Amino acid sequence: MKIAIIGTGVMGRGWITQCAMTGNEVHCHDANPDILAGTVKACIDLAEKTAKRFKITEADFAAATGRRITTYSDKAAFVAAAGGCDVFLEVIFEDMQLKRRVLGELLPQLPEQVMFWSNTSSLDIDKLADAGGRPERSIITHGFNPVPMMAGVEVVPGAGTSPETVEFTRRALLAMNKAPFLAPNIPGFWVNRLLVPMALDAVRLLEQGRIRVEDGDVGLNTSLGHPQGVFKLLDFVSTPTMLRVALEMLLASNDPRLYPPQLLVRMVRNGEYGAGSGKGFYDWSDPRRPAPRDLSHYVVGTAEQMTAALK
Ligand SMILES: NC(=O)c1ccc[n+]([C@@H]2O[C@H](COP(=O)([O-])OP(=O)(O)OC[C@H]3O[C@@H](n4cnc5c(N)ncnc54)[C@H](O)[C@@H]3O)[C@@H](O)[C@H]2O)c1
Repeated sequence: MKIAIIGTGVMGRGWITQCAMTGNEVHCHDANPDILAGTVKACIDLAEKTAKRFKITEADFAAATGRRITTYSDKAAFVAAAGGCDVFLEVIFEDMQLKRRVLGELLPQLPEQVMFWSNTSSLDIDKLADAGGRPERSIITHGFNPVPMMAGVEVVPGAGTSPETVEFTRRALLAMNKAPFLAPNIPGFWVNRLLVPMALDAVRLLEQGRIRVEDGDVGLNTSLGHPQGVFKLLDFVSTPTMLRVALEMLLASNDPRLYPPQLLVRMVRNGEYGAGSGKGFYDWSDPRRPAPRDLSHYVVGTAEQMTAALK
């Protein structure tokens, strides 16, 4: 298959690697030239890590993955290449207005038969499909981070998605060694519908000084088997992405549990983005030994403490 991918950040790179590792030709573009420039090298590194993890011994595996990837800094050249692809996969920021603007500009330039996939974590497929103008060939394929290590992909059809598109997508994902499962078109679908309110609640308890980063993660790991706990997971998702996802789900649902805690907003403002930026809920100076940070300077306090402060 030939796949065009727009957005080569954390998730875009994961998808590019997965597609290229499984023999597909990938054409990609990012609006940020620095991010685009680092993409092929990052994907080769990710393919190497994946080969190690899954004991793939094929000689030249990572380098061959890299050779299947072409990057385009010029948007018009990317669109021309995407026109010859089977699938156009969108992996840009979680922002409905931005996604609609980009899809409204690019998809009408592609032949009718090109399938549109979106990796959105929470947004309504019908609104994205409406912007791109090919609802019967539009569907969400929500992968998880890091894509080559996490098999699951939420497949979310919209009101106008044809059964042929669902079947094509299921088969294409299986051929890419993914494990697709159907999820409903509601804010957050299945996984984030459960995960996001839980993660925001964890940050709220941290903000109140009720739990520490290390205890929170050890607790979830040793009691529920969550491999990273919640704060380390947030550092991998990145705090800005979690904030964007929460805000988009809040806008779509008005569910007050999705109102982001101040601590998360302040971390984003301070550039504390998580593992990628070196600082989040953990200090990532040594990425093999992340150290839980003392976030007491961010603590707002419990209701009792706030009441006492007013006296
Ligand atoms: N981070 C996660 O764990 C995770 C998991 C599942 C799904 N997602 C979803 O994947 C999508 C991307 O998230 P991410 O974590 O990779 O974000 P990211 O910030 O790492 O990457 C997004 C990329 O999109 C690029 N971009 C933005 N506007 C663009 C435009 N107009 N044209 C071209 N490129 C543009 C940015 O330059 C950036 O490199 C979002 O919809 C997010 O909700 C994220």
